[in-house]
Amino acid sequence: MEIQALGYLGIGGANLDDWADFATGCLGMQAVDRGAGVRAFRMDDRKQRLVVDRSFADGERYFGWEVVDAAALDALAARLDRAGVVVRREPASRADQRLVRGLISFADPSGNRLEAFHGAHVANEPFRPGRSISGFRTGPLGMGHAVLMVTRIDDALAFYRDLLGFRVSDFILKPFVGYFLHVNPRHHSLALFEAPHDGMHHLMVELFSFDDIGQGYDIALGDPERVAVSLGRHPNDLVTSFYMRSPSNMLIEYGWGGREVNDATWQPQQLNTVESFWGHDGLMRAMGGDGAPPPHVAVGAQREMPRAPLQVIDGNYQRMSGVCPWWDAVRGRA
Ligand SMILES: [Fe+2]
Repeated sequence: MEIQALGYLGIGGANLDDWADFATGCLGMQAVDRGAGVRAFRMDDRKQRLVVDRSFADGERYFGWEVVDAAALDALAARLDRAGVVVRREPASRADQRLVRGLISFADPSGNRLEAFHGAHVANEPFRPGRSISGFRTGPLGMGHAVLMVTRIDDALAFYRDLLGFRVSDFILKPFVGYFLHVNPRHHSLALFEAPHDGMHHLMVELFSFDDIGQGYDIALGDPERVAVSLGRHPNDLVTSFYMRSPSNMLIEYGWGGREVNDATWQPQQLNTVESFWGHDGLMRAMGGDGAPPPHVAVGAQREMPRAPLQVIDGNYQRMSGVCPWWDAVRGRA
């Protein structure tokens, strides 16, 4: 199928200055000038990845899903047409606004505005982060992942999986229904959770260096209302992260160490829980639950504690040269 990555996200909001301070000083994005009423932010070599637009109401947003070229965009539009989805071939003026070469738009079953594009403009100047970070993990993995709350999960799943071609990484059916979907090796570029209201829960951006996360956590902790979910590690994508309140009605997950899935070998798995290995205090509340602590943190619990190797990329780790006879013996028996 055509869609390859989450290329950009646009959100409505009137508090542009708050967004500029947050995106640069906290997240480490680079603010770029796009004129009155708009703030755009770079995360890499692209001219923009995140756009905050005053002409959209808070809560309105558009998702930019990337395809490889004009032929793929035409094929996607034709398939949507055949399925009865209303597709708009956007004029060049709108594509210029998005800084892409070709653009179509349509809506998902929840009414979210989706855009598909090819040919994102690349900046001539190198990315200059708004604070000292190593950088965002983007490229073929896209800008991160989006998590949507949807009232009609079956319709949403049929749309994203069966029509758009997103692949299920894993899913949960109890105590709530959720699906994690990938379009490239990132474990999920989109997650859908059944909820009483349609909306966006969070955008996850991933950093190269673990220290970017810790230093971001320090900065966020300096603002009493900023941290919504404490530092923790997810059991499925293995991301270590925390969640911040953004100036709009959504959270930003600031993460490191996401695993990759290989379509040739990956089998969708049913999860028994999405409770984190550790931490992430506040996540159940943020998802609309009662905030009860996960059972595995109960004092005196004797159950098996979950754990998994860190997921690292070249350049952000060094192998230790020493050996530990005790550990090597344990591994040898495993
Ligand atoms: Fe997430």
